[in-house]
Amino acid sequence: VFDSGVGGLTVLKALSARLPHERFVYLGDTARLFYGTKSAETVTRYSLQAAQALAAYGVKCLVIACNTASSVGLPTIRARIANLPVVGVIEPGARAACDASRNGAIAVIATEGTVRRGAYQRAILSLRPDARVAAEPAQLFVALAEEGLHAGSIADAVAEHYLRPMFSAPGGRSAVSESDVPDTLVLGCTHFPMLVGAIRRAVGPRVQIVDSAATTAASVETMLKQAGLAADTPAPGSRIKLLATDGQERFARVGSLFLEQPIAPEEVELVDL
Ligand code: DGL
Repeated sequence: VFDSGVGGLTVLKALSARLPHERFVYLGDTARLFYGTKSAETVTRYSLQAAQALAAYGVKCLVIACNTASSVGLPTIRARIANLPVVGVIEPGARAACDASRNGAIAVIATEGTVRRGAYQRAILSLRPDARVAAEPAQLFVALAEEGLHAGSIADAVAEHYLRPMFSAPGGRSAVSESDVPDTLVLGCTHFPMLVGAIRRAVGPRVQIVDSAATTAASVETMLKQAGLAADTPAPGSRIKLLATDGQERFARVGSLFLEQPIAPEEVELVDL
């Protein structure tokens, strides 16, 4: 399981809960965070290096738990690491949104790169051609999440700033009439679920908030079963190995909030890509 930082731990938590017999290696490319503001070429190169590093651990499946990397690097990773099934998070997130929305008006917040490349817009429209999708970048949420600033007045102010215009009609930045006010919000970045309290306060109680964690875990389970790769006995010893490219102490401190379990800095192994 791979992300630019600790954000993908939201996906790892869902995977670990859904697949209690499996063991996981998680890599956070903390030395090169943020991916969301970098070019497609750079994100593809970084993602491929991370994927190759994880493949070397003898994994049986690769989960790109980063929307930014999934939006651009998936075809290259699939082509270059041909012997491993590779699962991204965008298609599962889009599916969760299409299932949740009643009026077909779906808002997406993601990193700058994911929004600019139109990844969610395309994925949602291919599943539900009648959908109306409004996508806006909310890059600052990544910094807040990595900083452990998940709640409080700063998180609330940033959530208001990004979300209020999308959810007010008419005349909002993205919503043009009452029927276009989204009834569903996709958290299109794996860091964002940590800020769900502030996000909920900004959008109000009626909007359905979805992310890719649970649907990605379900996709991985189906794929493992279909490929005959699912473990059927409990894994011995520690089930989660954590790798980072920089900052063990910070990874452990913030990552433990994401994973909702204590992580000691010594448990985080530093790797060079
Ligand atoms: N967590 C990542 C995502 O899902 C990327 C955040 C970043 O590095 O900008 O897009």
